[in-house]
Amino acid sequence: MVGPSGRPATYAACTVKVPATSFPKDMIKVLLLESINQTAIDIFKAEGFQLETAPGALTPEELDARLKDVHVLGIRSKMQLKAGALQHANKLLAVGCFCIGTNQVDLEAANSIGVPVFNAPFSNTRSVAEMVICEVIALARQLGDRSAEVHRGTWKKVSKGCYEVRGKTLGIVGYGHIGSQVGVLAEMLGMTVKYFDTASRMPMGNNMPLGSLKELLSGSDFVTLHVPASKETTNMISRWELMHMRKGSYLINASRGQVVDLASLAEAIRSGRVAGTAVDVYPTEPETNSDGFLTELQGVPNVILTPHIGGSTEEAQAAIGREVALALVKYVTTGSTAGAVNFPQMDFPILPGSHRILNVHQNVPGVLKNVNNIIADLNVNIKAQVNVTDSNIGYLVMDLEKDLSHEVEAALKDLPTSIKTRILY
Ligand SMILES: NC(=O)c1ccc[n+]([C@@H]2O[C@H](COP(=O)([O-])OP(=O)(O)OC[C@H]3O[C@@H](n4cnc5c(N)ncnc54)[C@H](O)[C@@H]3O)[C@@H](O)[C@H]2O)c1
Repeated sequence: MVGPSGRPATYAACTVKVPATSFPKDMIKVLLLESINQTAIDIFKAEGFQLETAPGALTPEELDARLKDVHVLGIRSKMQLKAGALQHANKLLAVGCFCIGTNQVDLEAANSIGVPVFNAPFSNTRSVAEMVICEVIALARQLGDRSAEVHRGTWKKVSKGCYEVRGKTLGIVGYGHIGSQVGVLAEMLGMTVKYFDTASRMPMGNNMPLGSLKELLSGSDFVTLHVPASKETTNMISRWELMHMRKGSYLINASRGQVVDLASLAEAIRSGRVAGTAVDVYPTEPETNSDGFLTELQGVPNVILTPHIGGSTEEAQAAIGREVALALVKYVTTGSTAGAVNFPQMDFPILPGSHRILNVHQNVPGVLKNVNNIIADLNVNIKAQVNVTDSNIGYLVMDLEKDLSHEVEAALKDLPTSIKTRILY
Protein backbone atom coordinates (compact mmCIF):
# COMPACT_ATOMS: atom_id res chain seq x y z
CA MET A 1 0.00 0.00 0.00
CA VAL A 2 1.46 3.38 -1.00
CA GLY A 3 0.59 6.64 0.76
CA PRO A 4 0.22 10.13 -0.79
CA SER A 5 3.96 10.80 -0.29
CA GLY A 6 4.85 7.80 -2.46
CA ARG A 7 6.12 6.01 0.64
CA PRO A 8 4.31 2.95 1.94
CA ALA A 9 1.37 4.39 3.91
CA THR A 10 2.16 2.46 7.07
CA TYR A 11 5.75 3.71 7.04
CA ALA A 12 4.97 7.37 6.38
CA ALA A 13 3.13 7.48 9.70
CA CYS A 14 6.03 6.05 11.69
CA THR A 15 9.16 7.52 10.11
CA VAL A 16 11.69 9.40 12.25
CA LYS A 17 12.81 12.83 10.99
CA VAL A 18 16.57 13.19 11.46
CA PRO A 19 19.18 15.57 10.09
CA ALA A 20 21.24 14.38 7.10
CA THR A 21 23.66 11.62 8.00
CA SER A 22 27.40 12.11 7.58
CA PHE A 23 27.40 8.74 5.81
CA PRO A 24 25.17 8.98 2.69
CA LYS A 25 22.13 6.77 3.02
CA ASP A 26 22.58 5.27 -0.43
CA MET A 27 25.94 3.92 0.78
CA ILE A 28 24.28 1.92 3.56
CA LYS A 29 23.97 -1.67 2.37
CA VAL A 30 21.09 -3.77 3.64
CA LEU A 31 21.05 -7.51 2.96
CA LEU A 32 17.73 -9.28 3.58
CA LEU A 33 17.75 -13.10 3.49
CA GLU A 34 15.03 -15.74 3.75
CA SER A 35 12.24 -13.90 1.85
CA ILE A 36 11.63 -11.18 4.39
CA ASN A 37 8.21 -9.52 4.06
CA GLN A 38 7.59 -6.77 1.49
CA THR A 39 6.74 -4.28 4.29
CA ALA A 40 10.40 -4.32 5.32
CA ILE A 41 11.62 -3.96 1.73
CA ASP A 42 9.35 -0.91 1.25
CA ILE A 43 10.69 0.72 4.40
CA PHE A 44 14.37 0.31 3.47
CA LYS A 45 13.71 1.51 -0.09
CA ALA A 46 11.80 4.56 1.12
CA GLU A 47 14.72 5.36 3.42
CA GLY A 48 17.08 5.33 0.41
CA PHE A 49 19.32 2.49 1.60
CA GLN A 50 20.99 0.10 -0.87
CA LEU A 51 19.05 -3.13 -0.74
CA GLU A 52 19.84 -6.70 -1.69
CA THR A 53 17.49 -9.61 -1.04
CA ALA A 54 17.75 -13.39 -1.30
CA PRO A 55 14.95 -15.93 -1.00
CA GLY A 56 16.68 -18.45 1.26
CA ALA A 57 19.44 -18.77 3.84
CA LEU A 58 23.10 -18.69 2.68
CA THR A 59 25.78 -21.31 3.22
CA PRO A 60 28.36 -20.28 5.87
CA GLU A 61 30.89 -19.55 3.09
CA GLU A 62 28.43 -17.39 1.15
CA LEU A 63 27.51 -15.53 4.31
CA ASP A 64 31.17 -14.83 5.19
CA ALA A 65 31.72 -13.37 1.70
CA ARG A 66 28.53 -11.26 1.70
CA LEU A 67 28.96 -9.94 5.26
CA LYS A 68 32.22 -8.13 4.43
CA ASP A 69 30.49 -5.05 3.04
CA VAL A 70 27.02 -5.26 4.64
CA HIS A 71 25.87 -2.64 7.16
CA VAL A 72 22.50 -4.13 8.07
CA LEU A 73 21.67 -7.84 7.92
CA GLY A 74 18.09 -9.14 8.06
CA ILE A 75 17.41 -12.84 8.64
CA ARG A 76 14.57 -15.09 9.76
CA SER A 77 14.86 -18.27 11.78
CA LYS A 78 16.92 -20.58 9.53
CA MET A 79 20.05 -18.47 8.87
CA GLN A 80 22.57 -19.13 11.62
CA LEU A 81 24.75 -16.15 12.56
CA LYS A 82 27.56 -17.39 14.76
CA ALA A 83 30.72 -15.81 16.17
CA GLY A 84 32.84 -17.02 13.21
CA ALA A 85 30.65 -15.24 10.67
CA LEU A 86 30.53 -12.06 12.75
CA GLN A 87 34.35 -11.90 12.61
CA HIS A 88 34.04 -11.17 8.87
CA ALA A 89 31.50 -8.41 9.41
CA ASN A 90 33.72 -5.37 9.82
CA LYS A 91 31.10 -2.93 8.54
CA LEU A 92 28.08 -4.52 10.22
CA LEU A 93 26.05 -2.02 12.24
CA ALA A 94 22.99 -4.05 13.21
CA VAL A 95 21.15 -7.34 12.73
CA GLY A 96 17.38 -7.75 12.42
CA CYS A 97 15.76 -11.10 13.19
CA PHE A 98 12.45 -10.86 11.31
CA CYS A 99 10.83 -13.40 13.60
CA ILE A 100 10.12 -13.94 17.30
CA GLY A 101 13.19 -15.86 18.50
CA THR A 102 16.86 -14.90 18.34
CA ASN A 103 18.46 -18.31 19.11
CA GLN A 104 19.94 -18.43 15.61
CA VAL A 105 22.28 -15.53 16.45
CA ASP A 106 25.28 -15.60 18.79
CA LEU A 107 24.01 -12.60 20.76
CA GLU A 108 27.05 -12.41 23.02
CA ALA A 109 29.46 -12.33 20.06
CA ALA A 110 27.36 -9.61 18.39
CA ASN A 111 27.33 -7.59 21.61
CA SER A 112 31.10 -7.84 21.97
CA ILE A 113 31.66 -6.33 18.50
CA GLY A 114 29.12 -3.57 19.13
CA VAL A 115 26.28 -4.94 16.97
CA PRO A 116 22.73 -4.71 18.37
CA VAL A 117 20.23 -7.41 17.38
CA PHE A 118 16.52 -6.56 17.00
CA ASN A 119 13.48 -8.85 16.75
CA ALA A 120 9.68 -8.61 16.87
CA PRO A 121 8.48 -10.54 19.89
CA PHE A 122 4.88 -9.30 19.93
CA SER A 123 3.87 -8.70 16.30
CA ASN A 124 1.83 -11.92 16.14
CA THR A 125 -0.07 -11.43 19.41
CA ARG A 126 -3.45 -10.85 17.75
CA SER A 127 -3.03 -13.85 15.43
CA VAL A 128 -2.46 -16.21 18.36
CA ALA A 129 -5.35 -14.70 20.34
CA GLU A 130 -7.79 -15.14 17.44
CA MET A 131 -6.78 -18.78 16.95
CA VAL A 132 -7.33 -19.48 20.65
CA ILE A 133 -10.81 -17.98 20.54
CA CYS A 134 -11.58 -20.08 17.49
CA GLU A 135 -10.43 -23.18 19.39
CA VAL A 136 -12.60 -22.38 22.41
CA ILE A 137 -15.70 -22.59 20.19
CA ALA A 138 -14.38 -25.50 18.09
CA LEU A 139 -13.75 -27.60 21.23
CA ALA A 140 -17.13 -26.74 22.77
CA ARG A 141 -18.84 -27.96 19.56
CA GLN A 142 -16.43 -30.88 18.85
CA LEU A 143 -15.90 -29.38 15.40
CA GLY A 144 -12.57 -31.13 14.76
CA ASP A 145 -14.13 -34.58 15.18
CA ARG A 146 -17.31 -33.76 13.23
CA SER A 147 -15.26 -32.38 10.34
CA ALA A 148 -12.98 -35.44 10.27
CA GLU A 149 -16.05 -37.74 10.29
CA VAL A 150 -17.67 -36.04 7.32
CA HIS A 151 -14.31 -36.14 5.48
CA ARG A 152 -14.37 -39.90 6.03
CA GLY A 153 -17.99 -40.10 4.78
CA THR A 154 -19.60 -40.51 8.22
CA TRP A 155 -22.77 -38.52 9.06
CA LYS A 156 -22.97 -38.18 12.88
CA LYS A 157 -25.33 -35.37 13.88
CA VAL A 158 -25.12 -34.96 17.69
CA SER A 159 -25.90 -32.28 20.24
CA LYS A 160 -24.96 -34.23 23.37
CA GLY A 161 -21.77 -32.85 24.90
CA CYS A 162 -21.84 -29.78 22.61
CA TYR A 163 -22.21 -26.34 24.17
CA GLU A 164 -22.41 -22.61 23.52
CA VAL A 165 -19.51 -20.66 25.05
CA ARG A 166 -21.68 -17.73 26.14
CA GLY A 167 -21.84 -17.60 29.93
CA LYS A 168 -18.94 -20.04 30.40
CA THR A 169 -15.73 -19.20 32.27
CA LEU A 170 -12.39 -18.90 30.50
CA GLY A 171 -9.31 -19.19 32.74
CA ILE A 172 -6.13 -17.63 31.32
CA VAL A 173 -2.75 -18.69 32.71
CA GLY A 174 -0.19 -15.97 31.88
CA TYR A 175 -1.85 -12.61 31.30
CA GLY A 176 0.79 -10.93 29.14
CA HIS A 177 0.50 -9.72 25.56
CA ILE A 178 -1.43 -12.73 24.23
CA GLY A 179 -3.31 -13.73 27.38
CA SER A 180 -4.80 -10.26 27.87
CA GLN A 181 -5.86 -10.07 24.16
CA VAL A 182 -7.60 -13.43 24.53
CA GLY A 183 -9.37 -12.05 27.62
CA VAL A 184 -10.68 -9.03 25.69
CA LEU A 185 -11.97 -11.16 22.79
CA ALA A 186 -13.56 -13.77 25.09
CA GLU A 187 -15.61 -11.13 26.89
CA MET A 188 -17.02 -10.09 23.52
CA LEU A 189 -18.41 -13.64 23.25
CA GLY A 190 -20.18 -13.25 26.59
CA MET A 191 -17.67 -15.33 28.55
CA THR A 192 -16.57 -14.66 32.12
CA VAL A 193 -12.78 -14.25 32.11
CA LYS A 194 -10.46 -15.00 35.03
CA TYR A 195 -6.69 -15.08 34.93
CA PHE A 196 -3.67 -16.11 36.96
CA ASP A 197 -0.27 -14.48 36.48
CA THR A 198 2.78 -14.56 38.75
CA ALA A 199 3.29 -10.85 38.01
CA SER A 200 0.75 -8.17 38.88
CA ARG A 201 -1.15 -7.41 35.64
CA MET A 202 -3.84 -4.79 35.13
CA PRO A 203 -7.17 -6.44 34.20
CA MET A 204 -8.71 -5.54 30.83
CA GLY A 205 -12.47 -4.97 30.79
CA ASN A 206 -14.14 -7.15 33.43
CA ASN A 207 -11.37 -9.79 33.47
CA MET A 208 -10.73 -10.96 37.04
CA PRO A 209 -7.32 -11.78 38.54
CA LEU A 210 -7.07 -14.89 40.74
CA GLY A 211 -4.56 -15.69 43.47
CA SER A 212 -3.53 -19.21 42.46
CA LEU A 213 -3.33 -21.64 39.56
CA LYS A 214 -5.38 -24.18 41.53
CA GLU A 215 -8.24 -21.69 41.96
CA LEU A 216 -8.19 -21.00 38.22
CA LEU A 217 -8.13 -24.69 37.24
CA SER A 218 -11.05 -25.65 39.48
CA GLY A 219 -13.20 -22.66 38.49
CA SER A 220 -12.85 -22.62 34.69
CA ASP A 221 -14.73 -24.32 31.85
CA PHE A 222 -11.83 -23.56 29.50
CA VAL A 223 -8.18 -23.12 30.48
CA THR A 224 -5.78 -21.48 28.04
CA LEU A 225 -2.02 -21.25 28.64
CA HIS A 226 0.03 -18.18 27.66
CA VAL A 227 3.19 -18.44 29.76
CA PRO A 228 6.82 -18.34 28.59
CA ALA A 229 9.12 -21.38 28.67
CA SER A 230 10.95 -21.43 32.00
CA LYS A 231 11.95 -23.78 34.81
CA GLU A 232 8.73 -22.84 36.63
CA THR A 233 6.46 -23.45 33.63
CA THR A 234 7.99 -26.79 32.57
CA ASN A 235 5.20 -29.37 33.03
CA MET A 236 3.16 -26.78 34.92
CA ILE A 237 0.12 -28.75 33.68
CA SER A 238 0.70 -32.38 34.64
CA ARG A 239 -1.38 -35.16 36.23
CA TRP A 240 -2.08 -33.29 39.49
CA GLU A 241 -3.19 -30.08 37.75
CA LEU A 242 -5.37 -32.02 35.28
CA MET A 243 -7.06 -33.76 38.23
CA HIS A 244 -7.85 -30.32 39.67
CA MET A 245 -9.48 -29.04 36.48
CA ARG A 246 -13.27 -28.86 36.50
CA LYS A 247 -14.72 -32.17 35.20
CA GLY A 248 -15.60 -31.82 31.51
CA SER A 249 -13.52 -28.69 30.97
CA TYR A 250 -11.12 -28.03 28.09
CA LEU A 251 -7.41 -27.17 27.86
CA ILE A 252 -5.71 -25.06 25.17
CA ASN A 253 -1.96 -24.73 24.81
CA ALA A 254 -0.55 -22.32 22.22
CA SER A 255 2.33 -21.20 24.46
CA ARG A 256 5.35 -23.53 24.63
CA GLY A 257 5.55 -27.29 24.22
CA GLN A 258 7.15 -28.14 27.54
CA VAL A 259 4.39 -26.47 29.58
CA VAL A 260 2.03 -29.48 29.35
CA ASP A 261 2.73 -33.16 30.04
CA LEU A 262 1.02 -34.55 26.93
CA ALA A 263 0.86 -38.19 28.10
CA SER A 264 -1.08 -37.14 31.23
CA LEU A 265 -3.30 -34.93 29.10
CA ALA A 266 -4.16 -37.81 26.74
CA GLU A 267 -5.00 -39.96 29.78
CA ALA A 268 -7.17 -37.18 31.31
CA ILE A 269 -9.22 -36.93 28.09
CA ARG A 270 -9.64 -40.69 27.74
CA SER A 271 -10.84 -40.86 31.36
CA GLY A 272 -13.38 -38.08 30.75
CA ARG A 273 -11.88 -35.65 33.26
CA VAL A 274 -10.96 -33.27 30.41
CA ALA A 275 -13.48 -32.94 27.53
CA GLY A 276 -11.01 -31.92 24.85
CA THR A 277 -7.87 -30.03 24.03
CA ALA A 278 -6.29 -27.87 21.35
CA VAL A 279 -2.51 -28.07 21.15
CA ASP A 280 -0.33 -25.95 18.86
CA VAL A 281 3.08 -26.52 20.47
CA TYR A 282 4.96 -29.70 21.41
CA PRO A 283 7.99 -30.67 23.54
CA THR A 284 9.91 -31.45 20.34
CA GLU A 285 8.90 -30.07 16.98
CA PRO A 286 10.29 -30.84 13.49
CA GLU A 287 12.55 -28.09 12.14
CA THR A 288 11.04 -28.30 8.66
CA ASN A 289 7.70 -29.29 7.16
CA SER A 290 7.73 -33.07 6.96
CA ASP A 291 5.70 -36.25 7.40
CA GLY A 292 5.99 -38.62 10.32
CA PHE A 293 5.24 -36.33 13.28
CA LEU A 294 4.06 -38.29 16.32
CA THR A 295 2.38 -37.19 19.55
CA GLU A 296 0.54 -38.97 22.36
CA LEU A 297 -2.62 -37.04 21.47
CA GLN A 298 -3.16 -38.45 17.99
CA GLY A 299 -6.40 -40.44 17.78
CA VAL A 300 -7.77 -39.09 21.09
CA PRO A 301 -11.34 -37.72 20.76
CA ASN A 302 -12.04 -33.97 20.59
CA VAL A 303 -8.39 -33.08 20.17
CA ILE A 304 -7.34 -30.31 17.77
CA LEU A 305 -3.68 -30.57 16.78
CA THR A 306 -1.97 -27.80 14.80
CA PRO A 307 1.71 -27.45 13.75
CA HIS A 308 2.77 -24.34 15.74
CA ILE A 309 0.77 -21.94 13.56
CA GLY A 310 -0.70 -19.69 16.26
CA GLY A 311 1.28 -16.69 15.07
CA SER A 312 1.46 -17.65 11.39
CA THR A 313 -0.67 -15.19 9.42
CA GLU A 314 -0.01 -12.78 6.58
CA GLU A 315 -0.81 -9.91 8.96
CA ALA A 316 1.73 -11.10 11.53
CA GLN A 317 4.44 -11.44 8.86
CA ALA A 318 3.72 -7.90 7.64
CA ALA A 319 3.77 -6.56 11.21
CA ILE A 320 7.09 -8.32 11.91
CA GLY A 321 8.58 -6.83 8.71
CA ARG A 322 7.45 -3.36 9.71
CA GLU A 323 8.51 -3.56 13.37
CA VAL A 324 12.02 -4.88 12.76
CA ALA A 325 12.72 -2.67 9.72
CA LEU A 326 11.66 0.44 11.63
CA ALA A 327 13.85 -0.51 14.61
CA LEU A 328 16.83 -0.98 12.26
CA VAL A 329 16.22 2.33 10.45
CA LYS A 330 15.89 4.11 13.77
CA TYR A 331 19.14 2.61 15.02
CA VAL A 332 21.07 3.47 11.86
CA THR A 333 19.74 7.04 11.73
CA THR A 334 19.43 8.01 15.43
CA GLY A 335 21.43 5.42 17.38
CA SER A 336 18.33 4.24 19.29
CA THR A 337 18.75 0.72 20.62
CA ALA A 338 15.22 0.48 22.08
CA GLY A 339 14.08 -3.13 21.78
CA ALA A 340 17.53 -4.60 21.03
CA VAL A 341 17.85 -7.99 22.72
CA ASN A 342 21.62 -7.95 23.36
CA PHE A 343 22.48 -4.31 23.91
CA PRO A 344 22.20 -1.50 26.48
CA GLN A 345 18.96 0.37 25.77
CA MET A 346 19.12 4.01 24.61
CA ASP A 347 16.37 6.04 22.95
CA PHE A 348 17.47 9.65 23.28
CA PRO A 349 15.59 12.41 21.35
CA ILE A 350 17.33 14.22 18.47
CA LEU A 351 18.66 17.62 19.56
CA PRO A 352 18.36 20.08 16.62
CA GLY A 353 21.61 21.79 15.61
CA SER A 354 23.85 19.23 17.31
CA HIS A 355 26.29 16.58 16.08
CA ARG A 356 25.70 13.06 17.39
CA ILE A 357 28.52 10.58 17.97
CA LEU A 358 28.05 6.97 19.07
CA ASN A 359 30.75 5.02 20.85
CA VAL A 360 30.53 1.38 21.91
CA HIS A 361 33.28 0.56 24.37
CA GLN A 362 34.44 -2.07 26.82
CA ASN A 363 32.69 -1.59 30.15
CA VAL A 364 35.80 -0.85 32.24
CA PRO A 365 36.50 1.98 34.71
CA GLY A 366 37.91 5.25 33.35
CA VAL A 367 36.29 5.27 29.88
CA LEU A 368 34.17 8.39 30.47
CA LYS A 369 37.13 10.24 31.98
CA ASN A 370 39.20 9.59 28.84
CA VAL A 371 36.31 10.54 26.55
CA ASN A 372 35.68 13.79 28.41
CA ASN A 373 39.40 14.66 28.31
CA ILE A 374 39.23 14.37 24.50
CA ILE A 375 36.18 16.63 24.38
CA ALA A 376 37.79 19.19 26.72
CA ASP A 377 41.09 19.19 24.76
CA LEU A 378 39.20 19.90 21.53
CA ASN A 379 37.20 22.62 23.29
CA VAL A 380 33.83 21.14 22.29
CA ASN A 381 30.69 21.80 24.29
CA ILE A 382 28.59 18.71 25.09
CA LYS A 383 24.85 19.38 24.70
CA ALA A 384 23.88 15.90 25.88
CA GLN A 385 25.74 12.79 26.95
CA VAL A 386 24.17 9.42 27.78
CA ASN A 387 26.12 6.31 28.69
CA VAL A 388 24.28 3.03 29.20
CA THR A 389 26.02 -0.22 30.05
CA ASP A 390 25.58 -3.95 30.43
CA SER A 391 28.08 -6.30 32.07
CA ASN A 392 30.27 -6.39 28.94
CA ILE A 393 29.99 -3.12 27.00
CA GLY A 394 29.06 0.54 27.39
CA TYR A 395 27.10 2.52 24.80
CA LEU A 396 27.87 6.24 24.82
CA VAL A 397 25.82 8.75 22.85
CA MET A 398 26.99 12.37 22.72
CA ASP A 399 25.35 15.38 21.12
CA LEU A 400 28.05 18.02 20.52
CA GLU A 401 27.56 21.71 19.87
CA LYS A 402 30.43 22.36 17.49
CA ASP A 403 31.15 20.46 14.30
CA LEU A 404 34.42 18.95 15.42
CA SER A 405 32.76 15.58 15.24
CA HIS A 406 35.34 14.09 12.84
CA GLU A 407 38.22 15.08 15.17
CA VAL A 408 36.30 13.68 18.16
CA GLU A 409 35.51 10.50 16.23
CA ALA A 410 39.19 9.97 15.30
CA ALA A 411 40.34 10.48 18.90
CA LEU A 412 37.62 8.20 20.29
CA LYS A 413 38.55 5.48 17.78
CA ASP A 414 42.13 5.62 19.11
CA LEU A 415 41.06 4.84 22.68
CA PRO A 416 42.08 1.23 23.47
CA THR A 417 38.67 0.65 25.10
CA SER A 418 36.67 1.62 21.97
CA ILE A 419 34.89 -1.15 20.05
CA LYS A 420 32.88 0.87 17.50
CA THR A 421 32.61 4.63 16.94
CA ARG A 422 30.26 6.28 14.47
CA ILE A 423 29.21 9.85 13.60
CA LEU A 424 25.53 10.06 12.82
CA TYR A 425 25.15 13.66 11.64
N1 LIG B 1 1.80 -20.64 19.15
C1 LIG B 1 2.48 -19.67 18.59
O1 LIG B 1 2.65 -19.60 17.38
C2 LIG B 1 3.03 -18.57 19.46
C3 LIG B 1 3.23 -17.29 18.93
C4 LIG B 1 3.68 -16.27 19.78
C5 LIG B 1 3.98 -16.56 21.11
N2 LIG B 1 3.83 -17.82 21.59
C6 LIG B 1 4.13 -18.13 23.00
O2 LIG B 1 3.05 -17.64 23.80
C7 LIG B 1 3.52 -17.42 25.12
C8 LIG B 1 3.01 -16.07 25.63
O3 LIG B 1 3.50 -15.03 24.81
P1 LIG B 1 3.28 -13.49 25.22
O4 LIG B 1 3.76 -12.68 24.07
O5 LIG B 1 1.92 -13.27 25.73
O6 LIG B 1 4.31 -13.38 26.44
P2 LIG B 1 4.35 -12.27 27.56
O7 LIG B 1 5.74 -12.27 28.08
O8 LIG B 1 3.74 -11.01 27.10
O9 LIG B 1 3.38 -12.89 28.70
C9 LIG B 1 3.70 -14.02 29.48
C10 LIG B 1 3.01 -13.85 30.83
O10 LIG B 1 3.18 -15.06 31.58
C11 LIG B 1 3.41 -14.68 32.94
N3 LIG B 1 4.03 -15.80 33.64
C12 LIG B 1 5.33 -16.19 33.62
N4 LIG B 1 5.49 -17.30 34.39
C13 LIG B 1 4.28 -17.59 34.88
C14 LIG B 1 3.80 -18.64 35.74
N5 LIG B 1 4.63 -19.58 36.21
N6 LIG B 1 2.49 -18.65 36.06
C15 LIG B 1 1.64 -17.70 35.57
N7 LIG B 1 2.04 -16.69 34.76
C16 LIG B 1 3.34 -16.65 34.42
C17 LIG B 1 4.27 -13.46 32.84
O11 LIG B 1 4.27 -12.71 34.04
C18 LIG B 1 3.61 -12.71 31.67
O12 LIG B 1 2.58 -11.85 32.10
C19 LIG B 1 5.05 -17.52 25.04
O13 LIG B 1 5.43 -18.79 25.53
C20 LIG B 1 5.34 -17.44 23.57
O14 LIG B 1 6.53 -18.13 23.23
C21 LIG B 1 3.35 -18.83 20.80
